[in-house]
Amino acid sequence: MLDTAQAASVLAEAFRLEVIAGLQGRPKQLSSRWLYDDAGSLLFERITGLQDYYPTRTETAILRRHADTMASFIGEQAVLIEYGAGACVKTQILLDALRRPTAYVPVDISGDFLAQTAERLRGRYPQLDVQPVVADFTEDFRFTARLPEGRRRTAFFPGSTLGNLDQGQALALLRRMRRHVGEDGRALIGVDLIKDTATLVRAYDDREGVTAEFNLNLLRRINRELHGTLPLEAFRHEARWNPYEMAMEMHLRCTSDVQAEVDGQPVSLQAGETIHTESSRKYDLRRITCLTEGAGWRLANFWTDDQRQFAVVGLEVVKRRNA
Ligand code: AVI
Repeated sequence: MLDTAQAASVLAEAFRLEVIAGLQGRPKQLSSRWLYDDAGSLLFERITGLQDYYPTRTETAILRRHADTMASFIGEQAVLIEYGAGACVKTQILLDALRRPTAYVPVDISGDFLAQTAERLRGRYPQLDVQPVVADFTEDFRFTARLPEGRRRTAFFPGSTLGNLDQGQALALLRRMRRHVGEDGRALIGVDLIKDTATLVRAYDDREGVTAEFNLNLLRRINRELHGTLPLEAFRHEARWNPYEMAMEMHLRCTSDVQAEVDGQPVSLQAGETIHTESSRKYDLRRITCLTEGAGWRLANFWTDDQRQFAVVGLEVVKRRNA
């Protein structure tokens, strides 16, 4: 496990290397995890409240409606491990429904944010053992503090962030979660569902222009943190459905030729070229069953809303034969 300063410097170097490689290669692409500097996180927070962006309110409503059944599925005295510590409202819905939860273990790369979340939850749930872990959950990590033994562990991953990972990363994370929770473990995972293209495009190109700002903020971040000279006015936000990947994609499309520098390195783009900044994969019951089975889970529950826009899936570990 890293301390907060180490985590920040590892991240800064990864950002520098990935941005240069992503902007010098073809097709141009940047990992969506870089969208979340302070300004990007605030913009994302605004997105979650937009009328056009249905996932957050829909998932929250599913959690509220089925919290008791989910609590029964998880069982008493649970140890809840949350991957990413952003969704406090959703966490609280679950914690409020759980019967005598033992521990809450939020895992996040942002140490400051994690500390704030932990403090808030300690205040609200004095009986709960809150053990924050600073780590990048998309990479392998170990729990240094001892998690309580003899209690069932549940991995909690709301928000449909699973969809922002490619197939290989998603499988690796699901396998990691399986290892973390052990043979008797459970998982609750939020997934956004395949639906009509117009609804999807609207959600990722909202009428208030907040998602466009969120996407363009990545260029602002590069200019600020990596001494970049990318001209923001030469880029526009684009959201499109990729039917082969079953994913909503965000791109930044260049409206004119661009010659710029990032950290002293040359970067050139032609008019019409795009930088792919995010994929947000969508699922149906069959696709999420296949993905989770491939990682050693059995899909036990599929909680959804009346319009089947979003789902929270309940997973059980498939026990190894001689375990
Ligand atoms: C964080 N993640 C699940 C969001 C999504 O829907 O893929 C990020 C986002 N991108 C544009 N709008 C929201």
